[in-house]
Amino acid sequence: MKRTKIAGIGHYVPEKCVTNQDLTQYMDTSDEWIQERTGIKERRYAENHKETTSTLGTRAAEIAIENAGIDKNEIDFIIFATLSADYFFPGCGVLLQRELGITKTEIGALDIRNQCSGFIYGLSVADQFIRSGMYKNILLVGAEMHSMGLDFSTEGRGVTVIFGDGAGAVVLQPTEEEGKGVLTTHLHSDGTNAEELAMINPGSHGGYHGNKEKYGFEDDGHPGGIFVTQKMVDDNLLAPNMNGQLVFKKAVQKFPEVIHEALNVTGLKTDDIDLLIPHQANLRISAFVQKSLGLKDHQVFNNIHKYGNTTAASIPIAMSEALQEGRIKENDLLCLAAFGSGFTWGSALIRM
Ligand code: UT7
Repeated sequence: MKRTKIAGIGHYVPEKCVTNQDLTQYMDTSDEWIQERTGIKERRYAENHKETTSTLGTRAAEIAIENAGIDKNEIDFIIFATLSADYFFPGCGVLLQRELGITKTEIGALDIRNQCSGFIYGLSVADQFIRSGMYKNILLVGAEMHSMGLDFSTEGRGVTVIFGDGAGAVVLQPTEEEGKGVLTTHLHSDGTNAEELAMINPGSHGGYHGNKEKYGFEDDGHPGGIFVTQKMVDDNLLAPNMNGQLVFKKAVQKFPEVIHEALNVTGLKTDDIDLLIPHQANLRISAFVQKSLGLKDHQVFNNIHKYGNTTAASIPIAMSEALQEGRIKENDLLCLAAFGSGFTWGSALIRM
């Protein structure tokens, strides 16, 4: 039976390390508050003007391609998951294709905008393409440059202290090896609370989904409306907003639910999980999930203390580090799970 295997993994984080203490220069916060509420000690910020989301992704992809032992021109499809794309359009997939220097032209490139669950959505899409025989070497990248779009005033502290920059990538290939590869993936969404964790502007909403005033839309006589109004700039409405408590409550419910769903489908149990890599949203969320599933410390991987929440990049960065640290071995059962903006969430089980 043909399945999808991970042939190579890589990650890249920018050099610049920003500690919690560093953030106190800009906003009223403290190392103690951030560590206690999130487990984060520091995060990385890319170098503005020299690095972008697609270049971070490219650095991670180069390592994944090398580890897969293939040439970049053997890649036949690119999937790029991010919420902090270089441009509004086109997506980062084509920019990475160019930056990597892939000379075999006209391969496919797809961008995925599913925020925290983007990597798992990308994995599921890639898995369908590989099992159907359509592609043989898919490059799946999760990358974020949050530092460009955060509100560094005290007003934005609830969001800003959490997020960091980085990238992770995997090369996915078909395998016929008995029992190996991606065993199952599960994807879910519920748009009821779409605006509760969102970057509303710039966008085409024109105030449609909610309060025009709140979202900074103004009728300015422009014949077709405009993505960015002066009011959005003046009222500081060009940064992400988050109802942290609601996200937290939903996350601790949906993570275990979607992990159990994957285990039930495959007839496996929580004891069978060698390593759970949860999207690195908040250390307290991971601890809740671990407790709810009855997992031991050695069964869960966390690195949020070093990088903060890197959204679509958090799972592949963690996979890459777990592999380097010897926490993932041949035949291990790896469980991936994520929950975030949308809300969208998902899980995957992979036999390594
Ligand atoms: O990747 C998925 C996306 N995001 C998540 O998964 C995040 C889920 N939510 C969370 O992680 C938590 O809700 C947060 C870490 C964001 C916030 O923690 P919390 O325990 O829910 O705090 P809170 O929002 O209820 O705020 C408690 C207090 C407030 O002050 P008052 O009103 O009690 O005086 C906030 O103004 O903490 C204040 N506060 C801060 N204080 C210092 C909020 N942010 C900060 C800050 N530094 N950075």
